[in-house]
Amino acid sequence: MREEIIRISEDEIARQREFAQKVRFHPDRPKTYFIVTYGCQMNAHDSETLAGMLEDMGLTAAAEKTQADIVLHNTCCIRDNAERKALGNVTWLKEIKKDRPELLIGVCGCMIQQAEMANKLLKQYPFIDLAFGTGNLYRLPEYLLEAIENKDRVIRVDREASTVAEGLPVRRENDIKAYITVMYGCNNYCSYCIVPYVRGRERSRLSDDIVREAELLVQSGVKEIMLLGQNVNSYGLDSAEGVSFAKLLRRVSRTGIERLRFMTSHPKDLSDELIDEMACNPVIAPHLHLPVQSGNDRILREMNRRYTREHYLQRVQALRSAMPDIGLTTDLIVAFPGETEQEFQDTLSLVEEVRYDSAYTFIYSPRKGTRAADMPGKIDAAVASERIERLIAAQERITGEILSGMHGQTAQVLVEGTSRRRETQLTGKSGRNINVNFTGDASDIGKIIPIRITGAGSNTLRGEKEE
Ligand code: 5AD
Ligand code: SF4
Repeated sequence: MREEIIRISEDEIARQREFAQKVRFHPDRPKTYFIVTYGCQMNAHDSETLAGMLEDMGLTAAAEKTQADIVLHNTCCIRDNAERKALGNVTWLKEIKKDRPELLIGVCGCMIQQAEMANKLLKQYPFIDLAFGTGNLYRLPEYLLEAIENKDRVIRVDREASTVAEGLPVRRENDIKAYITVMYGCNNYCSYCIVPYVRGRERSRLSDDIVREAELLVQSGVKEIMLLGQNVNSYGLDSAEGVSFAKLLRRVSRTGIERLRFMTSHPKDLSDELIDEMACNPVIAPHLHLPVQSGNDRILREMNRRYTREHYLQRVQALRSAMPDIGLTTDLIVAFPGETEQEFQDTLSLVEEVRYDSAYTFIYSPRKGTRAADMPGKIDAAVASERIERLIAAQERITGEILSGMHGQTAQVLVEGTSRRRETQLTGKSGRNINVNFTGDASDIGKIIPIRITGAGSNTLRGEKEE
């Protein structure tokens, strides 16, 4: 897919603001909204932008989906089950619409960006009022106005994928932690992955725009920023600015933010410069999500990952020698087409060798239009679930061992809130991104405080405030 990168002009953003004002004063506009989000952090952050735009148009958040005047589904299509879940929930709303015909049902996000989706929605889902993809999300005011004025469906699936829009309003979910997208899209074309087709080409935001956004967040009291991109290691490679991701991290860390995280890193692009920056910059959290996908070289080649097991392990070693206490997490796929038992065991042995703090494990799901979807050697479903269970069991044991080994250590915990059960029970995240529960009071919320670890559950730690 050769697609041009389009930076949306300030004029176009201003035009959308005008549409937003027209919606705001339209007598027939929806008054309340509800957004259902599927998938990754990028989508969660896109939903914050959707909420910001809807509030700019005068809408307020509804407490329940069934009470809202407009329900937007921000979809994911990375695996078949994500897609089925979204379509199932959209169809369920059809029943609510029978009683409340004024309810607007919207669908947006990655699923919409797939080829043939417009036709499918038009024919099979006549109750969907509004549909648009990730690349034209900034046009929500225009589409909503059109839907209200013409009382007709607005299905805009024009595959405009590679856009960068600055200056959209954002309604953030959390006062303590915030996301900043630093780049959109992906050029890697891993053979199993739909993302490059639905999120478009890699394009980086300008570093000044990112730093300004970080400064505003710091001023508003945010303590932790997570920089987001499908492959943050290639930040800047598409622009003439000459700012690498390591340099961007340094610039953002100087805004006064207390803790900085980022994801996702591709192992083939993890530079020594980035490792050095992580090691010497105390603002950057000692955690790296480094998806390996498989521990077997043939499978890695078939996946088009462009690194070997040996290269990956060397990168892990470089990280650990620079930062002995770094926490590593990963993504793993089992039952890729043609994966043999021996090849799967290479993934198991890699997990044993690296000892991740935790791992997201997935059964391979064929995605139409990707290279792997046409590969022979489909793995039997029973074999796939047996493999994933073995992998999960191994990872759970390792997680348990790592957490128990933290007994007596001190973790720097960013306190996020009270636990659901008791008000004096506080919860937060350590630098390594592990949940820590301890007894404290509401004045601790929003601070990074030292907690001495006294015990471990299956994936959380318990601790006490240090005197
Ligand atoms: N099937 C299973 N897992 C997938 N992922 C991406 N595409 C697929 C697929 N077709 C996983 C990868 C990636 C994570 C976000 O989702 O592990 O790192
Ligand atoms: Fe998908 Fe690979 Fe890009 Fe990650 S790096 S989004 S797995 S194509």
